Amino acid sequence: MSVHYTFTPDAPLTRRNTFRIAAHATWLVEIHDPGAIPEILARPEVKSQPLLVLGEGSNVLFTRDFDGAVLTFDTRGMEMLENDGETARVRATAGEDWHGLVRWTLAQGLCGLENLSLIPGTVGAAPMQNIGAYGAELSETLEIVEAYDRTCGESVRLSRAQCGFSYRQSVFKQQPERWIVTVVELCLRRNAPLKLDYAGVREELAALNLAQPTAADVSEAVCRLRRRKLPDPAVIGNAGSFFKNPVVSPNQAAQLQSEHAGLPVFNVPDGKKLSAAWLIEQCGWKGFREGDAGVSDKHALVLVNYGCATGAQIWSLAQRIRDSVQEKFGIRLEPEPRII
Ligand code: FAD
Ligand code: EPU
Repeated sequence: MSVHYTFTPDAPLTRRNTFRIAAHATWLVEIHDPGAIPEILARPEVKSQPLLVLGEGSNVLFTRDFDGAVLTFDTRGMEMLENDGETARVRATAGEDWHGLVRWTLAQGLCGLENLSLIPGTVGAAPMQNIGAYGAELSETLEIVEAYDRTCGESVRLSRAQCGFSYRQSVFKQQPERWIVTVVELCLRRNAPLKLDYAGVREELAALNLAQPTAADVSEAVCRLRRRKLPDPAVIGNAGSFFKNPVVSPNQAAQLQSEHAGLPVFNVPDGKKLSAAWLIEQCGWKGFREGDAGVSDKHALVLVNYGCATGAQIWSLAQRIRDSVQEKFGIRLEPEPRII
């Protein structure tokens, strides 16, 4: 075995996915050095086998064992590449913890990531769905993604424009078999205007008695909101929002609003965004439980595993929820996590 990677056969994944689904992988490959990726891909345990790159597993649902090789990174490293006193370019490796990176940048006096505080997962997974929360998205600060492209067998550097980012979307998510993200580079500023418009942020800052908040204060406010609103995966298995918020045409949104009083509608560049949580709650699912699979009583968009649910049970519940929303509102919800 190489010092650059480790292979484990028949590896349990229960503690490697936040739904805490008891799945196994035929092989688990821990990558200590991304330079070894070509060698790893050429090994018989991996070559011509299904491949899954896994971070913290906070946006996947295993409905069965993974009959192939699961690749994970334990690479660490965050550094400031350039710093002209006003802006700084920050580089972080795929295995770093996302929230750890947010905290490190804030400690360096850099802003831009504060609204994305406390999103679970790794740096390498962040570009996959262009993580977003509290009025910010990764695509606003990301400059470069370094990734191994399995189509051409080379490491490439993709600019922000090449990443094809939109709401919960990117080229990486469109072709998950193709890309292995190894490094992310961000451009952050020392004095960027704070984003306080997302519902609840100003109120939380006011409750903290912060009239002139800093980026670190916004981070604290977002963390408090998130801890209150979302179930903690360390306590109860979940993968955050199970469905994306649907984006519809202004006409369809107006029609639905006239039929369903109280339907929340938000403006987005390509139309009107509806609240999937609201649609699901209206169908009566909030707090529902069947065996150990359920819908959080804190947030209707979060499916939960109370202990021993299988991935197939969670997926079956998700499909029933999707069908009931389709029947009541004529809207087909799309899952956000990757379903394996
Ligand atoms: P994983 O779940 O391991 O993987 C997710 C996808 O990325 C998979 O397709 C996987 O194959 C791929 N992938 C992972 N690493 C790599 C890599 N290095 N190269 C190529 N592909 C890779 N998301 C948000 O956007 N906003 C939120 O506010 C938010 N809140 C959440 C709250 C909770 C409680 C939970 C549990 C999840 C939340 N999420 C949120 C979803 C999740 O945290 C993010 O999608 C996160 O980026 C996933 O990181 P991960 O390392 O766990 O990825
Ligand atoms: N709502 C309900 N019932 C609920 C919860 C919410 O009706 O049980 C309605 C309320 O009207 C509320 C609205 O939904 O105003 C929006 O709720 P929230 O602010 O919690 O945001 P969300 O749209 O449900 C999105 C992201 C989250 C992200 C938050 C904060 C998606 C799919 N989800 O949730 O991301 O943290 O905004 O920005 O876009 C994730 O992707 O895993 C995730 C948690």
